[in-house]
Amino acid sequence: MELGDRGYPIVIGSGLLDDADTIKTFVRNKLAYQQVCVVTNETIAPIYMEQLRSSLTGLQVETCILPDGEKYKNLDTLNQIFTCLLQTKFNRKACLVALGGGVVGDMTGFAAACYQRGIDFIQIPTTLLSQVDSSVGGKTGVNHVLGKNMIGAFKQPKSVVIDIDVLSTLPAAEFAAGMAEVIKYGLIWDQDFFTWLEQNAGALKALEPRALTFAIQKSCEIKAGIVAEDETEQGLRAILNLGHTFGHAIETHAGYGVWLHGQAVAVGMRMAIRMSNWLNESLGEELEARLVRLLEVFELPVYPPDGMNRDDFLTHMAVDKKNLNADIRLVLLDKLGQARVTSEYPMSTLNRLIDSFIGQS
Ligand SMILES: NC(=O)c1ccc[n+]([C@@H]2O[C@H](COP(=O)([O-])OP(=O)(O)OC[C@H]3O[C@@H](n4cnc5c(N)ncnc54)[C@H](O)[C@@H]3O)[C@@H](O)[C@H]2O)c1
Ligand SMILES: [Zn+2]
Repeated sequence: MELGDRGYPIVIGSGLLDDADTIKTFVRNKLAYQQVCVVTNETIAPIYMEQLRSSLTGLQVETCILPDGEKYKNLDTLNQIFTCLLQTKFNRKACLVALGGGVVGDMTGFAAACYQRGIDFIQIPTTLLSQVDSSVGGKTGVNHVLGKNMIGAFKQPKSVVIDIDVLSTLPAAEFAAGMAEVIKYGLIWDQDFFTWLEQNAGALKALEPRALTFAIQKSCEIKAGIVAEDETEQGLRAILNLGHTFGHAIETHAGYGVWLHGQAVAVGMRMAIRMSNWLNESLGEELEARLVRLLEVFELPVYPPDGMNRDDFLTHMAVDKKNLNADIRLVLLDKLGQARVTSEYPMSTLNRLIDSFIGQS
């Protein structure tokens, strides 16, 4: 990840968690920490904590085990991390290690940004979504009852260690949700990658290591490239929200946690592609059909939930935090592999688009 002196390595492979050499290189020797606090949750700890601990022998290793779930991504749980660190007298040379999905990673990063005004942290992401998205880019934080991810900081990790083997224990729906973000990178940035995904969807679904490593590496490269150009989201980074404005409306309408984020984004991307084609016919209808075929390989949804109407969409889209003003900003494609953010389109087209999806599922 290229960010000047805040750049960091992302290492991807199989068997890394209990590969003491890798862990040594990326956690111990290079950075010379004496104290490491692994932050994880009650689901992941029993599966992976011992493996990681065996690679960290010789250091003072503490573990902070959080409850599992988005609903615990809040200031109370963050405080549990601070309590762990203070009780064990961790100093400013300590390092936090996030072992978990995006929830653990976001909270651990934010804790690292705050503890004693900032200590180092390392990401060991264990969901596909966290491997290709949340662990790269430096956004950290927690939810507030009045808004998701509303309290946080930009804080880059010192390294990201991605062990693809952990995906074997991930529930299939969570894997698919991560694939939605992978597919997004092809759509917004790299048409060859999109074609590669079409050709290798079966191998990815079967967790074939070579395919997985390539897809994760490519996704991290694309996200890192976009973030490096626009770390604090002034412009370009917004294209990463393809499908997300529609997706957030679906998530909110269904009630958080009913639809996984990636499932809602899958439908949202389809909606954005159809709208892009309506506004720019050179894109061609075939792309929507290709996207649907690809999403269906991973058993991702391609229609919004039954009963969701135009007003449900518009109300939830208008309050999306990513909209700077009353206009609904959308990420649309100019062509496969090239996206732009715009609020300049006829409202009648957006209405017609939503209507074309209503009652279809
Ligand atoms: N910081 C960012 O840029 C960014 C980007 C996207 C999403 N996010 C955040 O990420 C969070 C979602 O992350 P997520 O999708 O990883 O969800 P998650 O962290 O809740 O993990 C999903 C579930 O899978 C379990 N799990 C994780 N790894 C496992 C494994 N290897 N085997 C078995 N079970 C495992 C978890 O315990 C959890 O129950 C949201 O809070 C979202 O806001 C942040
Ligand atoms: Zn997303």
